[in-house]
Amino acid sequence: MAQPQIRDDIGGQYELSRIREDFPILSEEIHGKPLAFLDNGASAQKPRQVIDAVRAIYETEYANVHRGAYYLSEQATARYEGARDIVQCFLNASSRQEIVFAKNVTEAINLVAYSYARRVLEPGDEIIITDMEHHSNIVPWQMIRDERGLVLKYVSCTDDGEFRIEDLARLITPKTKLISLTHVSNVMGTVVPIREVAKLAHDNGAKLMVDGAQAVMHMPVDVQYLDCDFYAFTGHKIYGPSGIGVLYGKAELLDAMPPFLGGGDMISTVTMEKSTWAALPAKFEAGTPPIAQAVGLGAALEYVSGVGIEAIAAHENDLLSYATQQLSSVKGLKIVGTAPSKTSVISFTLDCAHPHDISTIIDRAGVAVRAGHHCAQPLMERMGVSATTRASFGMYNTREEADTLVAALESVRELFG
Ligand code: ALA
Repeated sequence: MAQPQIRDDIGGQYELSRIREDFPILSEEIHGKPLAFLDNGASAQKPRQVIDAVRAIYETEYANVHRGAYYLSEQATARYEGARDIVQCFLNASSRQEIVFAKNVTEAINLVAYSYARRVLEPGDEIIITDMEHHSNIVPWQMIRDERGLVLKYVSCTDDGEFRIEDLARLITPKTKLISLTHVSNVMGTVVPIREVAKLAHDNGAKLMVDGAQAVMHMPVDVQYLDCDFYAFTGHKIYGPSGIGVLYGKAELLDAMPPFLGGGDMISTVTMEKSTWAALPAKFEAGTPPIAQAVGLGAALEYVSGVGIEAIAAHENDLLSYATQQLSSVKGLKIVGTAPSKTSVISFTLDCAHPHDISTIIDRAGVAVRAGHHCAQPLMERMGVSATTRASFGMYNTREEADTLVAALESVRELFG
């Protein structure tokens, strides 16, 4: 099969206003104020190109995939499998068989937990994660640990929220079989040096799973360069639909793993006595898949690639520096997570108000942020806070929106001050 190509017809210099025009929701008013959407870490907004792609498949090309010997089914199958080619290209995976569609990162991690760790690891074997993981990269390992008698160890981040590879190295023993880390902390934006971690893991005979949910939209991700064994990301945080995620796995590992879910489309043969499995990646895609969502994800990745992930990263880094500087002028505000290497995510506390109150009040100014523990309760405990307010910036955000956030926080101070 020919190497897939990602369309690159949106490029050129970073045209923020043109990008913003592509996202219809950004011109909405909230409580009579222009929307400043700063909750991209939870879920990002969608460009017209994604909305159109999803609508087009439903309007003109929709049928179930892999099943029908008729025009529409063949068209839908081509679009669904075409989306896989786009993902392969986006991640620079060496083969399309290594790209498994899942519902989200949570499902992808559970797939690895159940089909890999549960089968391969022996009682007493160790899995290492960090204390800054999202619950989706903690709970599945706790469940497998309890079932298989494994040991789950945590690398602690520094007080600044930095990941230090030497702290991970200290925890590794001959019993360490799997390391599973976030690429970027959803709370603090801390970037973990995955390529170095992969080398450390492999030098010690362990495999590496990466939760890329908060990374792929902020930086180039090349799974062959990183040399991770598994990498997961979700569509809805990279400007695509919800209900579609991706698990990348090295072919030799996926090939040796049993299916996660059984049912239609993942078999080769079924008799009353037993079943045999389809080849990769179908073996891991039981049942009717999220067809339109996959097509929408393909459109989102084409859009991001068209703008240019390096250009997006540069824009967001500028926003991160600017917003960090502006926020530091707010009295009583403390940023949680100041690692030298971080993406455009800023969590903070304000001494006069609870994050839930802050979020509710600044919503009246049109500012959307997330407040709470961010599905990272162990990290909250580590950082000595019960909750934070989190502003997470995306490719379409502006310095003016950072200013709006700061002004809204000043009004919170006035109210509670
Ligand atoms: N995992 C998403 C977040 O960090 C929902 O907000």
